[in-house]
Amino acid sequence: MKPIRLGVIGCGGMARNHMGYFESIPGLKFTAAADNFTDNLDLVTSLFGVEGFTDGRKLIKSGLCDAVMICTPHWFHPELSIAGFKAGLHVLTEKPVAVTAKDAVRVEKEHAKHRGLVYAAMFQIRAHPMWLAIKQIIDRGDLGPIQRVNWIVTNWFRSQAYMDSGAWRATWKGEGGGVLLNQCPHNLDLLCWLVGSPTEVLADVRCGKYHHIEVDDEVSALLKWDDKKNRRINPKGATGVFVTTTGESPGSDRLELVGDRGKLIVENGKVTFTRTHVSVAKFCKTTDEAFGQPTTETITIDTGSANPGHSVVTANFIQAIRKPKTPLICSGQSALAELELGNAMLMSGLTGNAVRIPTNRAAYDRLLKDLIAKSTFKKGAVKKAKVDMAKSFH
Ligand SMILES: NC(=O)c1ccc[n+]([C@@H]2O[C@H](COP(=O)([O-])OP(=O)(O)OC[C@H]3O[C@@H](n4cnc5c(N)ncnc54)[C@H](O)[C@@H]3O)[C@@H](O)[C@H]2O)c1
Repeated sequence: MKPIRLGVIGCGGMARNHMGYFESIPGLKFTAAADNFTDNLDLVTSLFGVEGFTDGRKLIKSGLCDAVMICTPHWFHPELSIAGFKAGLHVLTEKPVAVTAKDAVRVEKEHAKHRGLVYAAMFQIRAHPMWLAIKQIIDRGDLGPIQRVNWIVTNWFRSQAYMDSGAWRATWKGEGGGVLLNQCPHNLDLLCWLVGSPTEVLADVRCGKYHHIEVDDEVSALLKWDDKKNRRINPKGATGVFVTTTGESPGSDRLELVGDRGKLIVENGKVTFTRTHVSVAKFCKTTDEAFGQPTTETITIDTGSANPGHSVVTANFIQAIRKPKTPLICSGQSALAELELGNAMLMSGLTGNAVRIPTNRAAYDRLLKDLIAKSTFKKGAVKKAKVDMAKSFH
């Protein structure tokens, strides 16, 4: 079988990280790259000997690629994905798939016209053995219907140097959001993937609290799940708290999931599952002990330190092209949920109202356009920051 010829649009930090493992992926041939910043493009073309384009759309139309990987700033993801599908290319897009759920749906609609093409998103943490083990526990029903979810994920600390490292970063116009759109989409994605989409959000969102930026850098959100069709949650609904920021150090990363059969805690890369021997709801109704509690056993789940990282998603994408019906780790469609949740949190924080999900996508679009139009923010000069890629991803 012929190798899949892959073109990469956007040749910045993340793209170069991907390019570093391409050779190890069977069936992948890296053929072309595009970037409108020639320094980054030249670096990549000279390093990898691929054809270079200063315009991503020209790469798409070049006939040199069967598939495209989109690693530009987020605003360009939907247009380039749509152009890719229109040209008959498979698309693997970096997260988030778009800035707004409305745009993500536009991509889905275009993809629906080209069903033979693979559409995948880079949510690589889904492929981590620890998260796969947690998903199995929930899907098997071992935790019972979930009633409470608390996630405090404040270890997304970013310095001002990071915020200043790109003209597009941390502005409404250039990026479209802050911690909710750039850093914690992985956590929002895991939340939706594991428990299902919340149905309502009330959030406190602070913009530019810790950095000279105009977008969100602190979020505290109350979540509700009350979708009767969601079998993973308690039939009477579930509640949650989600806290994130780029302004706290040392940060925490602690997820607590409580179900009718116990509590699962994920902290510092360790999973502790304290399982009750009986249903808590049943015990509550049947015991005659005023202060009795169900007995429990505690299991620690150790999936080792191996982190397969981004390459697994790229390998899965290539495999899905070569062998149709290969299940995707993260389809583009399934990446909509986290984006919608992030949009809802931002909309709630900025308007002071609780927001239902699915959101009023047109209203969110208007809100963001208004923020862009009314912005008076003056970003500091763009400065090259020291980048240690090993420190940049969890
Ligand atoms: N999956 C992950 O864990 C992960 C981690 C980091 C970044 N990302 C995502 O990768 C994307 C890029 O982030 P980054 O950190 O590499 O940014 P970056 O600023 O380092 O790189 C972006 C590159 O895109 C180029 N570019 C800008 N507009 C373009 C356009 N219209 N056409 C072609 N090239 C264009 C820029 O010149 C730059 O070289 C973002 O969407 C980000 O969310 C994902």
